[in-house]
Amino acid sequence: MKLTFSQTVTGNISGGVLVVTIDNPPVNAASADMRQGLLAAIDNAAGSKEISGVVITGAGKTFVGGADIREFGKPMAEPVLPQVVDHVEASRKPVVAAINGAALGGGLEIALACHHRIAAGSAKIALPEVKLGIVPGAGGTQRLPRLAGVIAAAEMAASGRMVGAAEALALGIVDEVAEGDLVARATAVARELAGKPPRRTGDLAVAAVDAEAFGAMATKALARARGQDAPGEALRLVRSAAGRSLAEGLADERATFLRLRDSDQSKALRHVFFAERAAAKVDGLEGVEPRAVSTIGIVGLGLMGSGIVVAALDAGYAVIGVDATAEAARKGRERIAALLDRNVASGRLDAEGREQRLALLTISHRMEDLADVDLVIEAVFDDLDVKTDLFRRLEGIVRPDAVLATNTSYLDPDLLAAAAPHPERVVGLHFFSPANIMRLVEVVNCAKTAPDVLATGLAVAKKLGKLPVVTGVCEGFIGNSIFSAYRREAEFLLEDGALPQDIDVAMEGYGFAMGPFAVFDLAGLEIAWARRKRQAAARDPNERYVGIADRLCEAGRFGQKSGRGWYAYPDGKRTVDPEVTAMIEAARAKKGISPREIKPDEIVLRLLGAMAAEGEKLLAGNIARRASDIDLVMINGYGFPAYMGGPMFAAGK
Ligand code: 3HC
Repeated sequence: MKLTFSQTVTGNISGGVLVVTIDNPPVNAASADMRQGLLAAIDNAAGSKEISGVVITGAGKTFVGGADIREFGKPMAEPVLPQVVDHVEASRKPVVAAINGAALGGGLEIALACHHRIAAGSAKIALPEVKLGIVPGAGGTQRLPRLAGVIAAAEMAASGRMVGAAEALALGIVDEVAEGDLVARATAVARELAGKPPRRTGDLAVAAVDAEAFGAMATKALARARGQDAPGEALRLVRSAAGRSLAEGLADERATFLRLRDSDQSKALRHVFFAERAAAKVDGLEGVEPRAVSTIGIVGLGLMGSGIVVAALDAGYAVIGVDATAEAARKGRERIAALLDRNVASGRLDAEGREQRLALLTISHRMEDLADVDLVIEAVFDDLDVKTDLFRRLEGIVRPDAVLATNTSYLDPDLLAAAAPHPERVVGLHFFSPANIMRLVEVVNCAKTAPDVLATGLAVAKKLGKLPVVTGVCEGFIGNSIFSAYRREAEFLLEDGALPQDIDVAMEGYGFAMGPFAVFDLAGLEIAWARRKRQAAARDPNERYVGIADRLCEAGRFGQKSGRGWYAYPDGKRTVDPEVTAMIEAARAKKGISPREIKPDEIVLRLLGAMAAEGEKLLAGNIARRASDIDLVMINGYGFPAYMGGPMFAAGK
């Protein structure tokens, strides 16, 4: 018999067990309707003689994806999630969670309040609230340590890390992993438990904590959380579960949740969450099928190319890596093997995974070997002649339906496409180095790119586990255009009176992992110098131009690699160099500028302002499709702190 508790929650009674199904697409979020329905289902079971136990499960591939994030910032409708969770736990009839897929945040909190948890092999659990700038708000920080211990629970709550079914079982978070039919098994367990006193997680004692081990874990978690409030609060709440009653812990948790939910960091991180989902939606691509890609050819096996190869192998693609000579190809293979070895050494990959990846890889110095690939990504030297020549050669080799992608950073891909007989199959895939680690890929929609080719670029980037953001064509696309504006303003600040270290400290205080001058030194100064020299003839003489970086390069100061740049690096350590200070002072004097003291607030304001102004230009020129895309690029490619939401969000755009 089908029972309807709300629009999103229904029930079925099977042999005395009420199987409650949450069906609230796309992710079964705990919306007001769902909460009300779940509460009603538990009440129904309590009042029914026919029902002796309850199973809660989700329709589709998610159990419950957490609280409904769209409701944040609006008044909370009753019942709120903690009321529902308490109701589940208080039930006198056994409630079994049949965790059929992701149980995240509030979803895990519902499961923790059940009296028995069974997970499907594919289930995943997490308390991802910190990624939204909040802490769990419905008992997660208090019930999880009662099952998994304080250290494991605190690590999960502070990191938001996703845990698979096997690990959840080992940690004691779930009671079993179902081999066969999950709901049938959960129903059988509910029947077995019927009539026995329910095992309530909230009644369990919290095991004693090894203070030293907790401290070591917390230090690591806090280092990763730099600048963010929520992870520290999550650690504090879980840690204190050991010394106080459940009720006290829950009250503190709820108050902290509500305070953080209204914080600027949480608003910014929610913006980022929705920005990521919005970026995947591209006007004009509705209903457009990407081309099938199973083999990728990657030409150029330098640092960037080998990183792309590893990313493609990680995603399960067959890869043919090509470089110009047998020697270059051999070096490429070594570079790729070294990257895989590093992943093995860090525990990210096991020996078997390494072998599987190498089995998918072919290395060659013969371009003809690309005859059958579905997609070619070129990562050769960033020079128009070199790349044009390569594209012409590829046209004679690859299948007519193969997609050609360029990884150029600064060249005009429309010029490259124009050199190819079939410009409609050319797209830009601008990876960031190291390409196997960095999440951002700018997908460049060239003037003639066919919709299904653009869709293919997006689909492949997504399968690589990347965050693809579509950009139009302009010098530097979205990211480097804004980075250039940032660099320009940082150099104006130098002339006006700030020193590199003042600017870096100010931006690191804002939340960047590294200030701009430390980043310039890390990346090397010579590429930007070469560009400035190329552009010199076309430069408007009335435009403000700061020549200090040119002076540095003329003095052989190319950054960290050469041991000297904006800083000196004795023993590899970044150190203020009086020689650079003198060069800056000389440049100011030459222009007759009297330096003034510039406070950190002004530095931050000017640099953020320069980024937002450049962002406005990109929007006006249709290079970026939406302000939030620009935020994603700067957060994922350039170290802009996510909890500040990105330059456009910070500027209120
Ligand atoms: N609330 C509202 N909408 C949500 C949502 C949520 N919790 N989670 C996902 N969505 C929406 C997305 O915005 C997207 O909508 P769109 O199609 O209109 O753009 C749609 O669901 C699909 O999302 P994805 O594209 O991310 O789908 P995937 O299949 O790739 O991933 C997921 C599914 C793993 C569930 C992923 O969406 C996710 O991680 N969601 C966030 C989970 C989360 O953070 N939960 C904690 C919420 S806070 C909380 O629970 C507080 C509690 O402690 C009180």
